[in-house]
Amino acid sequence: MKTQVNQVGQNGDPQLAQGGTTTREQCLVLDATDPLGFTRRRFHLPEGVIYLDGNSLGAQPLNAAAAMQHAMREGWGDQLIRAWNSHDWVNLPSKVGAQIAPIVGATAEEVIVADSTSVNLFKLLAAAVTMPEVANNPQRRVILSEAENFPTDLYVAQGLSALLDGKVVLRTVPRAALRNAIDDSVAVVLVTHVDYRTGHMLDMSKLNADAKRAGAMVLWDLSHSAGAVPLALNNDGAELAVGCGYKYLNGGPGAPAYLYVKQHLQSQLSVPLSGWFGHRQPFEFASDYVPAADMRRFLCGTPSVLGTIALETGVRCFEGVDMARLRNKSLALSRLFRQLVEAQCGALGLQCISPDADDERGSQLSFSHDHAYALMQAIIGRGVIGDFRRPNLVRFGFTPLYTRYVDVWDAVAVIRDVLEQQSWRNPQYQQQKTVT
Ligand SMILES: Cc1ncc(COP(=O)(O)O)c(C=O)c1O
Repeated sequence: MKTQVNQVGQNGDPQLAQGGTTTREQCLVLDATDPLGFTRRRFHLPEGVIYLDGNSLGAQPLNAAAAMQHAMREGWGDQLIRAWNSHDWVNLPSKVGAQIAPIVGATAEEVIVADSTSVNLFKLLAAAVTMPEVANNPQRRVILSEAENFPTDLYVAQGLSALLDGKVVLRTVPRAALRNAIDDSVAVVLVTHVDYRTGHMLDMSKLNADAKRAGAMVLWDLSHSAGAVPLALNNDGAELAVGCGYKYLNGGPGAPAYLYVKQHLQSQLSVPLSGWFGHRQPFEFASDYVPAADMRRFLCGTPSVLGTIALETGVRCFEGVDMARLRNKSLALSRLFRQLVEAQCGALGLQCISPDADDERGSQLSFSHDHAYALMQAIIGRGVIGDFRRPNLVRFGFTPLYTRYVDVWDAVAVIRDVLEQQSWRNPQYQQQKTVT
């Protein structure tokens, strides 16, 4: 398929037409007129690198180093313990949660930053299955998930099932069968909104409605959605969600994650990890646990201050960004990439496995190849960074805040060259590293 991407719509958003051939010059025009072009300057992006892995680790916000340095020098360095008050560190989880809220379509009181996604999955899953309505109903004992869900989601559910002596069990079905599998045995549906391997995106509103009809709750993992696609948790009827801070939110390696709990549910959920920061008055040092009435009950121990400060700089990169416009650019970038790859690399063994339909796809594309690992290493060796996922996928993420149309064009030229030259056959690319 040939590509044409040389039109700019009246509102400034790109209009991609089918057919024709996109030139590098046309990509440069799209970049010059890109209504989101201003956000790229908010990031540190190394020379000579085209970064298509913001779905694994977002690029570094330009302000991150200065914010960290400020926290290190004036905060930790000079203020020492006083900084918990003078720099308001104690309220960082709520403050940064409130900044994430508009990105996910929630109110400021419904999101808090804490721990890792895995830990937050445990907290909310455990809280959901121990609600009296569920715990007192022997029929409702299933955590329903997708067989190909991100492993940590499944591991956490397995661990919880073992902890509860099998009173709840994990049942997995193919992603396509999820909606039909929700029946009155299901307590919680545990799903990832955008699939990490294929980029397939579920219809949040429909799945929430199905679950509600069956009396089940849904726990959404938004790791591959938040910051990449517009989310409307409130409007789409979502009750529980968690997500990563280090992917499209640009919070840095191992950034803290976040949780969302719909307002009316917050006081009904008990978190088994009842640490002192979830207490109503942590600094009363009372001997008995009384949870905070609001989202703070989903905290556990002392917040990761430096990590949360870095995350804040990442989240602030969304200031002034219209999420519908961000989505338009994400789709335009990924359509362009797909069309160029299919036109130039299709005969060279790359096969797109991501959904074709825009409304079924997040902001990534995955392609199968018989030598996917070595291929990705060779592509990275040429300065185009994506990643590899088992068994045979190369994965590319499009971060509209900093990916340009010309990056897409140049990246595909590199991929085609690597495939044509078969440079992935070089032995240096065959040795699998620990992190892929
Ligand atoms: C969908 C999904 N959920 C959870 C995680 C892991 O989150 P964490 O390492 O913060 O526990 C990842 C990591 O890539 C992920 O892709």
